[in-house]
Order: sequence, then C-alpha cells, then structure tokens
Amino acid sequence: MNYKRSPIEIESPEQYGYDKIRYNLSESSFTDMRLSDLDISLDHLVLAYGDHFGKPELRALLAADGAGLHPDDVLLTPGAAAALFVANTVLLKPGDHIVAAFPNYATNLTTPRAIGCNLDLLTLRFEDGWRLDLDVLAQRVTPKTKLVSLTTPHNPTGVVLSEADLRRVVEIVEANDCYLLLDETYREMAFGPLTPVGASLSPRVISISSLSKSYGLPGIRMGWLICQDTALMEQFLAAKEQIFISGSLVDEEIAFQALQRKSALLAMIRAQIATNFTAISTWMAAQTELEWVQPQGGVVCFPRIRLDLALDLDRFYQALNHEHGTWVGPGHWFEHDRRYMRIGYGWTSRDILLAGLNSITRAIHSAKL
Ligand SMILES: Cc1ncc(COP(=O)(O)O)c(C=O)c1O
Repeated sequence: MNYKRSPIEIESPEQYGYDKIRYNLSESSFTDMRLSDLDISLDHLVLAYGDHFGKPELRALLAADGAGLHPDDVLLTPGAAAALFVANTVLLKPGDHIVAAFPNYATNLTTPRAIGCNLDLLTLRFEDGWRLDLDVLAQRVTPKTKLVSLTTPHNPTGVVLSEADLRRVVEIVEANDCYLLLDETYREMAFGPLTPVGASLSPRVISISSLSKSYGLPGIRMGWLICQDTALMEQFLAAKEQIFISGSLVDEEIAFQALQRKSALLAMIRAQIATNFTAISTWMAAQTELEWVQPQGGVVCFPRIRLDLALDLDRFYQALNHEHGTWVGPGHWFEHDRRYMRIGYGWTSRDILLAGLNSITRAIHSAKL
C-alpha cells in the first residue's frame, strides 16, 4: 500500500483549528450534536470487547432499513471511512480495474490508488448537471472489472442517483460479475423519496454508511457496511478483526440509543436542513458571478465562479479565508479547479450560513481583474 494524505484532510478545519474560522461552510455534515442533546445513558456498560460484527441490536435496527436484509448482513465499523477501507482492501488488488465516479469523496479514489489499482474515472460534468451517464458506465464495465464505486447522494455535488438508475447499475455489475461499492453515507438526507438500501437489491452490492453526516455524529466514529454475500462478509469481518478486533462499545451504545429515536431526530434535522437550503437557494438565485447545479440531497453543493469572469483566485481565497474568516471546500480538495468550491450548508445556523455566503460574494468582488 502506498499511502498519501489528501488536501481535504490536511487542510480540514479540525486540523486547522475550528476556533480560527468564523463562518465554516466547509463541513459536509449536519451540525455536530452534543452528547447532552441525545440523553444517552452509558453507566450500565461493561467495557469488554464487543461482538466482532458489532452490537446485534444496532445491526438489527440498520438491517430493518432494507427489504430482506438480516442483521448478519451488517458489519459495524469506525465510520464509513473504515467500511470503505475494509471493502476496498478485501475486493481489490494491484492492477485491478475499478470504475469510480469523479469527482468523489477523496477516500473513494485514494484507497484504490494506494492499492495500485487501474482506476478508471467516470467523469461527472457540471454541464451535464453532474449526472452519471449510464451508457458510458455500461461501456467501461467489462468482465475484467472488479468494482464500480459510486456515491449517492453525491459528495461534493449533492446529486442523487434515482432508483431506476441504481437498478440499472446493479444490472450492469451483475452482468459483468463484479461488485458495486455504493457509498450511501448521505442516503437519509435525500430531499425526495429515499432510494432502497443498495445492498438489499443484490448480493453484488456493498452499501456503506454512517451516522456522521445525517445525524451530526462524526465524533462517535460509527459506520457500517451491508452485504448479503456471506462469504464476502466473512472476509470483511476478518479484515475488521485484523485492524480493530471489535468496535468501540461506547460508540455502538450511543449510536443504538440515538437510532432508537431516529424519527424524532431526523424530523428535527430535515427541518433545519430545509431552512438552510431555502437560504442558500435564495442567495444563489441572486448571484451573477456564480452558477450551480441545485443539489437533490445531502448538505453540500459544488457551485463554480463563472468561467468567463476574470478573477485572481489566490486573491479570492486569501480574502475569503483571512479577511472574512470564511471556509469552503476549494475545488482542489476534489481534484478540480479552485473556481469550484464545495459549500456545506447544513452544519451552521442559517444566520452563520448567510454571513458566510455574503463573504463569498464580497471576496469575489475584491478579486475581480
Ligand atoms: C461520501 C463520504 N463517504 C464517507 C465519508 C466518511 O465519513 P465517516 O467516516 O465519518 O462516516 C465521508 C466523509 O466526508 C463522505 O463524504
């Protein structure tokens, strides 16, 4: 394995210092929760090693989200990040052909690269509304392909794969005897009807998710993978055991108690996201120098400064970061030009969001050539 750190991690607010940022629009999750918001009781816990798959009652709750899924189809991991790592390292070896959407959450590209795979990027384009072209996907996947890696709702664009499109992707991977790694970390944040959990559609699909984004709980590092292929699950478990033995009982218990109140929590979270989404949509409608593809889920979007606007990008980011104290995810976090920026609109209050958005407008004006 040839590990390399990504700019999104090196430059992340948690590394830079949250206290140095006034308007943080660089986050991709709902507002971080406090333990006291959740009314959790942990005193009964015996701090032994836990079930190697993860707390059975929590796995049962997660399995109930997908038709026909069983708790043993669920493997708990420390965050979706670990689930992605386990799945990629079990399924891929050097030289393997993998087709992955681009741009993407960095780990979905860096881990196959670290393994030394033949990474075939399926480029999504602003001009196409960041939509996945299924005909191109069908051409790229061959019987030699090991894995197709997609994210929906997508990070950084917020575009959602429809159920019909998801079913077509499943047909393509089944026809070619490969697997679909479906990063569904934002699934419960889709604005429209939720697509089925991918792993419920076929044993060829591995679904990945966590509580980090939709529930604002990245600090408990609680994620999972779901797969109906029992032989593959055995290998995923072996990988988990070799890295962690079992997960944190404290994290699993917090996750379990939080998910027992899932409907109330999600109703509160969706209401806050809807308020902020209205705020950013109204602001975008008034921008002449920025354009976007309106997101359909999640809490991020990936607008760009119009290509015909002459602008000093260094000056823009200097003004944005250091004069206005505002942070966004610059395009290079996603291997794109810095005219693109990921704006996270679900992490702050509406007022902070609007203040940060107004600083973007001001920083563009100050950087015009
Ligand atoms: C699409 C996607 N997948 C996975 C992750 C990893 O999140 P976590 O490990 O906190 O669950 C992230 C984090 O930004 C993400 O955006």
